[in-house]
Amino acid sequence: MKNNIIILVFLLFNIIHTKNYSDLFKPTKIGSISTINHFIRSATWEGKATEEGYPTEACYDIYSKLGKGNIGIIITSYAYVANYERPGKEQLAINSDNHIPYYKKMTDYIHKNTKSKIIMQIGHGSAISQGDPEHAKIFGPTAMTNYISGLKSIEMSKQDILNVEQLFVDAAVRAKKAGFDGVQLHCAHGYLLSEFISPYYYLFV
Ligand SMILES: Cc1cc2nc3c(=O)[nH]c(=O)nc-3n(C[C@H](O)[C@H](O)[C@H](O)COP(=O)(O)O)c2cc1C
Repeated sequence: MKNNIIILVFLLFNIIHTKNYSDLFKPTKIGSISTINHFIRSATWEGKATEEGYPTEACYDIYSKLGKGNIGIIITSYAYVANYERPGKEQLAINSDNHIPYYKKMTDYIHKNTKSKIIMQIGHGSAISQGDPEHAKIFGPTAMTNYISGLKSIEMSKQDILNVEQLFVDAAVRAKKAGFDGVQLHCAHGYLLSEFISPYYYLFV
């Protein structure tokens, strides 16, 4: 009896508040991007790319299903911008012009067959990268051994920082050519950009 009352109160609470959720289904705009609703698929590594970071049929399948499911904005998993590292296993890359047509196929499908928008997340690895750390150049704001991976980062010079900046610019231009509606910078989870805003990694803040 007590449990039934708790469930009833819970249901009533949800019904009363459900009208506020109706906004989620209304169109909106983020900057210049119009979207059919407020649902965004957050970037999620799927581990379905080739060794060189090209999307496979399995990737096309995931993104087409998200589009068919009426997600307002789909954000791809994190695609890496450099060619001297591979932050995650079977991870997407946008580090060469050769990748452009493979993503164009994905964005064309989304734009022609669904009402979703699609944004590419771009990023650069760090000492927590797991894709191919033995062969990667591991940069960081400070030379230190990562307490999770045990990998040592190379302290970046000003020129290294400018080079990485250019890699991001090149990747964003490629994403635009590939038909994406925008890019999102991966600035979290201990990857390179997030290290620069962390007093733990950036010891001179
Ligand atoms: C398997 C997996 C892969 C993820 N890959 C990325 C990624 O590539 N880029 C990113 O910014 N976040 C990534 N995330 C984080 C998610 O986008 C999301 O922020 C996180 O799961 C928290 O959201 P939630 O509270 O709705 O679960 C990943 C999460 C999971 C579980």
